[in-house]
Amino acid sequence: KARLYSGMQPSADSLQIGNYIGALMQWRDLQETYDAFFSVVDLHALTQPNDPAELREKTRRTAAQYIAAGIEPAKSTLYVQSHVPAHAELAWILSTITGFGEAGRMTQFKDKSQRYGSDATSVGLFTYPVLMAADILLYQTDIVPVGDDQKQHVELTRDLAERFNGRYGEVFRVPMPVIQQDTARIFDLQNPLAKMSKSAESEAGVLWLLDDPAVTAKKIMRAVTDSEGAVRYDRENKPGVSNLLVVYAALTGRQIASIEDEYVGRGYGDFKKGLAEVVVAEFEPVRARAMELLSDPAELDRVLAANAARAAEVAGATLSKVYDSVGLLRRA
Ligand code: TYM
Repeated sequence: KARLYSGMQPSADSLQIGNYIGALMQWRDLQETYDAFFSVVDLHALTQPNDPAELREKTRRTAAQYIAAGIEPAKSTLYVQSHVPAHAELAWILSTITGFGEAGRMTQFKDKSQRYGSDATSVGLFTYPVLMAADILLYQTDIVPVGDDQKQHVELTRDLAERFNGRYGEVFRVPMPVIQQDTARIFDLQNPLAKMSKSAESEAGVLWLLDDPAVTAKKIMRAVTDSEGAVRYDRENKPGVSNLLVVYAALTGRQIASIEDEYVGRGYGDFKKGLAEVVVAEFEPVRARAMELLSDPAELDRVLAANAARAAEVAGATLSKVYDSVGLLRRA
């Protein structure tokens, strides 16, 4: 079986609908045909300020949401990044073959460092993509299913793999990003020109997987649209309505045209009501299952430990090859 790798940051109590549509739905399907590894990247989450107890809780909650959304820990390897020390170890080695300028060209780093200012921008934020490359390369990954915003990081991963292989011999498989074009970017409900994000400024624009159904419905009813009043896909002139149509289509598996037809001559109110029903019906079982899993953290921790052991075997084999290749003297 070909290998698949992907992960998410435990940067909020709940995942948002962009994570669900842009990543989790693909993961769920692809785990049937790939040998899949899914991590909760807690080391990456340290690049933003965290309360320690809250980070632990968010890590468990993220893992619970993976499982609740249909990632099966008996089929896929679902684990916490920091449970496998090889990630941090390989990241160091890869940082020695990454150019300073090359890392500086990552748009996510440029955006975030500009927002934080240079004193609040850590070296960890700068080397974030190198750690991500280590995640992927440790598992001899063939494909990396991600949303649009992670594409540049996967491209860097490919460059680093090729550079390492060229310099030290064939050690890494060179991975391919897999991006579902039509759902690669879900936008904020209040600001449909900005990507929906776990770290958005306003709560009203973000649909959380674990929100109360009434809250979800209310946010959808209040989503920014336009004054035309027609349910029609037009990214340029109607970004709000277009985003809602993409969400509707992704969750129902329907064509956008068929949804447009259904709402011809009806107002946005009807359309939003319809969408709210779709979203709540999709989220409710996931939320219920996540809560059930979180009510028994000891059992969840056991599942994560067993999966980390499986991950550590694969990662350890790659790291050992890397250490040999670069000339580190191995402990006798
Ligand atoms: P993160 O935690 O920001 O997001 C997790 C996944 O969700 C996708 N995503 C979206 N897709 C569509 N529309 C949106 N609005 C939206 N917001 C987020 C992201 O593209 C991603 O696929 N650096 C990564 C985590 C990571 C990783 C990895 C991923 C660490 N190591 C190795 C793949 C492989 C991140 O911050 O994702």
